[in-house]
Amino acid sequence: MTTLWHGRFKGGSSEALKALNDSLSFDMRMYREDIEGSRAHVRMLERVGLISGSDERVILNALDQTEKEISEETFLFEPSDEDIHTAVERRVTEIAGEAGARLHTGRSRNDQVATDLRLWLKNEMKELSSLVTEFQKTLMSKAVASEGIYLPGYTHMQQAQPVMLAHHLLAHGWALSRDVDRLLNALNHADVSPLGAGALAGSSLPLDPDGVAKDLGFTGRFNNSLDAVSDRDFVADALFALALLGVHLSRIGEELILWASTEFGFIELDDAFSTGSSMLPQKKNPDVAELARGKAGRLIGNLTGFLATLKGLPLAYNKDLQEDKEPLFDACDTARLLLLALNGMVETMKFNAEKMKEHADNPYAAAIDLAEHLVAKGIPFREAHAIVGGHVATALAGEESLTQLISSDERLGPEAATLLTPGAAVKMRTTPGAAGPEQVKVQLDEFKKQLKIQQERLKE
Ligand code: ARG
Repeated sequence: MTTLWHGRFKGGSSEALKALNDSLSFDMRMYREDIEGSRAHVRMLERVGLISGSDERVILNALDQTEKEISEETFLFEPSDEDIHTAVERRVTEIAGEAGARLHTGRSRNDQVATDLRLWLKNEMKELSSLVTEFQKTLMSKAVASEGIYLPGYTHMQQAQPVMLAHHLLAHGWALSRDVDRLLNALNHADVSPLGAGALAGSSLPLDPDGVAKDLGFTGRFNNSLDAVSDRDFVADALFALALLGVHLSRIGEELILWASTEFGFIELDDAFSTGSSMLPQKKNPDVAELARGKAGRLIGNLTGFLATLKGLPLAYNKDLQEDKEPLFDACDTARLLLLALNGMVETMKFNAEKMKEHADNPYAAAIDLAEHLVAKGIPFREAHAIVGGHVATALAGEESLTQLISSDERLGPEAATLLTPGAAVKMRTTPGAAGPEQVKVQLDEFKKQLKIQQERLKE
């Protein structure tokens, strides 16, 4: 008896189903990986004796031709090409005839798509890591060029203590190092070949998943066929790494927006990386930085959306898993755009050292140094804190300046008051990893080393 489904199947799919189900429009970008995976699969089929040497050659040639056609955009897609796997196999069979019809032996689109995506992701994580590294290099060269410049450091968005500008820039640089680490971890998690898992349970044919894994440059193969076709943890890892990268870029963006404002005036953006207003002639807007802030939402959304897709899935492959690619591609594309634009924006922006100094030399920012001066004389810190706090309150409320009050307090005196002179406080930050010029020099060397390590890792 013919089932409803069977009847429909015979009659072809509805337009609505095709519109929903087909993934060619977005999985096409994995065509190289799909063809690479097919080449390894075909070579394996020949090695284990499932196809002849001449069939292998014919299929490999057909794969070459297919790749050429797609890359040269002469490939004619058919309405029946549901996804890139179907399209490639259809074309290979057209070119290679019977031999082509042997290509899919022992393979399912389930292990195939997972293989393609892992190969794609491995490459992409490297490229994004190197873009992050480029951005870090820009931060470093800005830090080197900013020698001697200091600005207020903030807590609660209130001026707290002066810090070297290089220190501030490198703070973002170190966060980006952790991003590279996470991107490369996602790469490592993707570095397991699922090919040979079949639809879900492996095969009765003498396949060689180890050989295929090696051929494709994977570190190893799956241990469990069900896990192999349903595991998308590597996608979630990549999406998390990109979401957090997005959060870091957003935080950088937010600071640059503040710094570019008239109120702060700490930086001037280059014309090439700012926009104007259609109405207000005087405006120069930090759109790049705003989009860095705005697109973090999208990167976070890609992660949370995809986790929601995964959470209800029973083993093994379910079509829901087709929802892995669009968020991943979007997240990678978004991160790439942001990194390139922010890199250019930071590279070309100019610092207003005077404006930074003016705020950083606010004598109140040296209050902790006064308290620590008292500590050095043996006064318990709490007491010292209260003494200086009292002077700050008096200065804020009355006629006498903080410098005058400190000079005339015998516990402190003129010597302590020199701590309030411009540029003095920032030099006091001398502990390891601190914000003063000496330590920042050490840190710059460390950061250079870190970038070298990253570059070495990216060569692997
Ligand atoms: N286009 C599908 C995807 O992206 C390929 C796998 C289809 N497998 C299947 N059993 N229908 O996930």
